[in-house]
Amino acid sequence: MDLRQYTKQDVAGKKVLLRLDLDVEVNEQGQVDEFHDLRLERSVTTIKELLDFGAVKIILCGHRGRPQAGYNQDLSLSPVKSRLEFLLNKLGVQEKINLINDVSALPESAPGRLVMLENLRFWPGEKNNDRNFALELGRWGEVYVNDAFGNSHRSDASMLAIAKILPAYAGLSLINEIKELTRWLDNLPRPYAAILGGAKIETKIPLIKQLLTRADAILIGGALANTMLAARGINVGQSLVEEEYFSIAKTFTDAKIFLPIDAVLSDGSVSDINSVDSEDFIGDIGPRTAALFKQKIAAARAILWNGPMGKFEDARYQAGTRDIVAAITQSQAKTVSGGGDTLDVLTKLNVIDKFSFVSVGGGAMLTFLAGESMPGLEALVIHTSH
Ligand code: 3PG
Repeated sequence: MDLRQYTKQDVAGKKVLLRLDLDVEVNEQGQVDEFHDLRLERSVTTIKELLDFGAVKIILCGHRGRPQAGYNQDLSLSPVKSRLEFLLNKLGVQEKINLINDVSALPESAPGRLVMLENLRFWPGEKNNDRNFALELGRWGEVYVNDAFGNSHRSDASMLAIAKILPAYAGLSLINEIKELTRWLDNLPRPYAAILGGAKIETKIPLIKQLLTRADAILIGGALANTMLAARGINVGQSLVEEEYFSIAKTFTDAKIFLPIDAVLSDGSVSDINSVDSEDFIGDIGPRTAALFKQKIAAARAILWNGPMGKFEDARYQAGTRDIVAAITQSQAKTVSGGGDTLDVLTKLNVIDKFSFVSVGGGAMLTFLAGESMPGLEALVIHTSH
């Protein structure tokens, strides 16, 4: 997939509307900390390049969370703005970012070289890919740059409609994501093991289908495993399951799919997977499952990991994920990982550098690796005719 790239001439002396991955976790102190800022770290490189190329103004935009339409203080981009300023400062950019609450404000009323528009999902037009909303956004810049790989499986107005209004280019981080993930898909040594966890089964189904033809072992933990186990009639008690996906989950019976054989329960005890009490819940994979998964990981020459093996946010249920990550980082295999919760784990365990590539995309990475279309990138793709 070739994406249109900007040159210095395309942006010098211009106002650039820059779409970024700003959907990052904010901690209890209301701050974006060093455990949740990889997406922002990747973004500042693009901001710095655009400034160095002579952009007169950069209007940063993106979304955070899934708010209903209307202003919502809890999902404001204000903490994201502060963290970006901090990261830019580390790169030698002293300028402050001017946060603008209203997309329909007059662009002339927003001073400063760096401006940020509030959470785009505060306006219904963003999710609806609404052309009028895109026209409103388009007033802010003369050129549009998309550097939001993590949102490229979505067809939001700031990804798609806007790219038909302003001259549109891909940013540095987006281009790098496509390059690295394409290289991964094109050079997959075997055996290939994929480890999938977390929830949101709907984002993982296309990938599981594709892995059935390409991978040698598909190791499943986390809430994803609960759904698969429950669909097979195994009692997972009060564990999180996505019941609406039982019928599709039931079809995943291939012998290369490995589900947990034991589990850590609410009180920290370990139980065989067939003996979970109806009142209990599964917090983590058990040691026998971890040993089985580690054996498959040790044999693999290519490893994909997305999603924790249990409720990693609770220290009592971290052992399974920690074990799996240690096995992956100790292996000599090519390794790729990415996604919201996964990034948080990788940062917390300080192992980002131990992977061949870490993507900032969760659903976006899974969609790309599954070979599905990426609607948010459509307008940026250079179509070559043969
Ligand atoms: C992400 O943060 O993973 C993307 O921005 C997509 O967010 P969404 O799943 O809320 O659309």
